[in-house]
Amino acid sequence: MGKLVWQISIITAIVWGVFMASCRDKALELPKLPTSEEYHAWRETTDIPLNYPIPGHGDVFREIYINPIGEAVEKKIINDRVVYAYPTGTVIVKEIYAGRDEPIPEEQPIKLTIMIKAPEHPLALNGWLWIDADVPPTQPHVITHRFCVDCHANANETHPYGDMNPQNEFRDFVFFPPRPH
Ligand code: HEC
Repeated sequence: MGKLVWQISIITAIVWGVFMASCRDKALELPKLPTSEEYHAWRETTDIPLNYPIPGHGDVFREIYINPIGEAVEKKIINDRVVYAYPTGTVIVKEIYAGRDEPIPEEQPIKLTIMIKAPEHPLALNGWLWIDADVPPTQPHVITHRFCVDCHANANETHPYGDMNPQNEFRDFVFFPPRPH
């Protein structure tokens, strides 16, 4: 009898271990990334040609797309300050091209950087997953150090890009908010 109890506890421990491991893997799963056909159907957040140098990024051509969930961003007033609150599920894709010139039709970007609003995700930093991906994004890589988010914190105050955030709004780490329709 003692032996049976012992065997049952071992089996329970193994089953529990497998269960916990699968929970952890599930929690770390990434939201599905859009295909290039999918995100090309979204709106671009700016029509400024992004080919000027930004520190740490070089000076190659960039294009930014936001999904309809993110376009519905809510602006709240908190302590007299405009605060952007992107809904969970917002996806912003930035394409990075090889050259500095406007890409020719059919030209593929060489790399994507992606922000996904997923505040519940264990790897999220300040509410966003920061992702670096090849094209097509077969091996997306979640950035878990603060490299991306620390630079993007500059978007939350007046900065040198786009409309420059002149009213010092809390832009939720996004330099180019979606344009009004
Ligand atoms: C040195 C500062 C800096 C760092 C580091 C940085 N970014 Fe950015 N990022 C910018 C700027 C500036 C823009 C505005 C668009 C442009 O000029 O390319 C931007 C735009 C973006 C956008 C479009 C949304 C927006 O803010 O307008 C995404 C997505 C993005 N970056 C992802 C990332 C990811 C992921 C990382 C880390 C791998 C990263 N960025 C690291 C400065 C930075």
